[in-house]
Amino acid sequence: MNAAMKKSTAILAISCLLLATGIGASALLFAPDTSKTSVVSSGTALVGGPFEATNQDGKRVSEQDFLGKHTLFYFGFTFCPDICPAELQVISAALNDIAGAEDKFNLAFVTIDPARDTPDIMKQYVAHFWPGTIGLTGSAEDIRKIAAAYRVYYTKAGGENADKDSYLMDHSSITYLMGPDGKFIRHFPFGTSADDIKKALVDITSG
Ligand code: NI
Repeated sequence: MNAAMKKSTAILAISCLLLATGIGASALLFAPDTSKTSVVSSGTALVGGPFEATNQDGKRVSEQDFLGKHTLFYFGFTFCPDICPAELQVISAALNDIAGAEDKFNLAFVTIDPARDTPDIMKQYVAHFWPGTIGLTGSAEDIRKIAAAYRVYYTKAGGENADKDSYLMDHSSITYLMGPDGKFIRHFPFGTSADDIKKALVDITSG
């Protein structure tokens, strides 16, 4: 992340893409609460943890609701023109290709734009993806907390100059895999193929 990148909002449509490729593998090193980076040799303890959010049916949920299955977490926003739908399609393709995936996996799409992404909007959006996809939204504070827990960077593109209705969000684009115990297992950087994700998920759950 750098100032030049943040200021490149003239090309709003690709700001999502720039961040996704720019942050990529380094996002695990990003500490959202301090803006400093530190070297993490094992990210296990630093990703995940307790959260509360509202699902696409308007029900309050927490990390407890995701225990018992492996859960893929992906953070983005429904207004995203490219990165979020592309990544959700890749994850969906991987899960659609695994027999009985709904018994072994959750897929949680967490919005980092709760101001626009109401439960109703999330419900319409997740219907485009793997049938088990769960949409999570909530208050700004709910989202701040879960994004901090998952080391997810997000900010409104254009800052104060952003259009109040059609603004975009800059955000890191990483998929996290958590175990049935809620503990971090691994992440999939943006650009990982559906086939590679599928293989990893099958390996992890058949061991
Ligand atoms: Ni996006």
